[in-house]
Amino acid sequence: MASTESPRFSTNDVTVVFFLGGPGSGKGTQSANLVQNYGFVHLSAGDLLRAEQIREGSQYGAMIKEFITEGKIVPMEVTVALLSNAMADSLTNTPPPPGTKARFLIDGFPRKLDQAVFFEKTVCPSELVLFLDCPEDVMESRLLKRGETSGRDDDNAASIRKRFRTFVDTSMPVVEAFRAQDKVVTVQATGSVEEVYEIVKAGIEARGVHPR
Ligand code: ADP
Ligand code: C5P
Ligand code: MG
Repeated sequence: MASTESPRFSTNDVTVVFFLGGPGSGKGTQSANLVQNYGFVHLSAGDLLRAEQIREGSQYGAMIKEFITEGKIVPMEVTVALLSNAMADSLTNTPPPPGTKARFLIDGFPRKLDQAVFFEKTVCPSELVLFLDCPEDVMESRLLKRGETSGRDDDNAASIRKRFRTFVDTSMPVVEAFRAQDKVVTVQATGSVEEVYEIVKAGIEARGVHPR
């Protein structure tokens, strides 16, 4: 029997934009600009997983650490619950201005088709997918540089190679599935931070997302 359950959040109250792109393509960097100018609440799935990994009392800490170091996708139930709860917290603690919908920029998610389907069914359907398109050699040099100071378990050559493989095999099919729904804004991400942001702005404004 078909489920009659509806998503936790309605698209009448909430706009969800998924932010995808390979590791090191610049999602976190561009998100900061989008928060400033468009009133997005930025939720990075990777940041939420890293916070859960070190949270005292978490039953998932060791599992998350292993998946992140191996560049593998953490089982979706964990990630979707973290995102859904972060959305609820944000709506409670920092609600959007009266008469406006909350805007969520969900960075690094969905990375696998099952996550996309499950999130849209149980949490909230997405409005748009912003995709940073970047060649691996550029991403690799950005990540190795970031690794000099990031302290991340996965900003090293061996993990980077595994993350690229996961991205090609598992995450690009998500982008393609959304492309088939005409939901994807693709941005070439090889220019400077400022150049990329100009293309990002033009892309989302063409889809009706305007500054706030
Ligand atoms: P992601 O969140 O997609 O993994 P980040 O935003 O963390 O990527 O960017 C990865 C690294 O590359 C960071 O050290 C960041 O400062 C740097 N970076 C981001 N965008 C650019 C860019 N357009 N040009 C050069 N370096 C960049
Ligand atoms: O997006 P970020 O590079 O911070 O993600 C780091 C890691 O977190 C990924 O390589 C993956 O192991 C894990 N992750 C995940 N599922 C997501 C997002 C991140 O398993 N949706
Ligand atoms: Mg990031």
